[in-house]
Amino acid sequence: MPRAITVTKVVHALAGTIALLTIFVFWISTAVTELFASSSTIAELKMVIPWGFLWLVPALAITGGSGLQMAKGRRSRIIASKKRRMPIVAGVRLLILIPAALFLSVKAHSGAFDAAFYAVQAIELIAGASNILLLAASLKDGLKISGRFQRFVKQDGASPG
Ligand code: HEM
Repeated sequence: MPRAITVTKVVHALAGTIALLTIFVFWISTAVTELFASSSTIAELKMVIPWGFLWLVPALAITGGSGLQMAKGRRSRIIASKKRRMPIVAGVRLLILIPAALFLSVKAHSGAFDAAFYAVQAIELIAGASNILLLAASLKDGLKISGRFQRFVKQDGASPG
């Protein structure tokens, strides 16, 4: 395999995994703090999350760009599904999740934990969960294309007990 393709594949898999992990950590920490933490901890988290966009947005762009580059000239159902999901992930991120995070950060900064705060918080959790599910599906499909998923399932099935 040409070296350029190998590098693209590694960059793609790394960027996609970083994006998925970042969104997952945002989601879990939001859910846990909303359920168990004080308003000051919620406010601190709300102010930290927008900084995460500094690497999340480039990670998503690199994942999509490198994915499209590797998909050039290849026609398969699995690649088509990956291509279909990415604009949904990016659209929900740019149109719902980033504005919601900025809104919640401003609200939390001024201590306004009102009905609007919780309505937007609920929307953010639902939209965030959809991002996680779509990215996880693309990660799984990527591992299927590369054959790693089948190898993992086989190994798992062969292990005693
Ligand atoms: C526009 C969206 C995407 C396209 C067109 C795309 C396309 C591809 C293609 C063509 C491959 C096969 C590379 C090869 O073996 O030759 C691949 C592998 C992979 N993709 Fe994607 N992908 C996309 C999004 C994603 C996302 C969002 C993730 C993770 C969250 C992801 C994770 C992976 C992984 C882990 C591999 C396996 C790499 C390896 O073999 O080590 N992809 N992708």
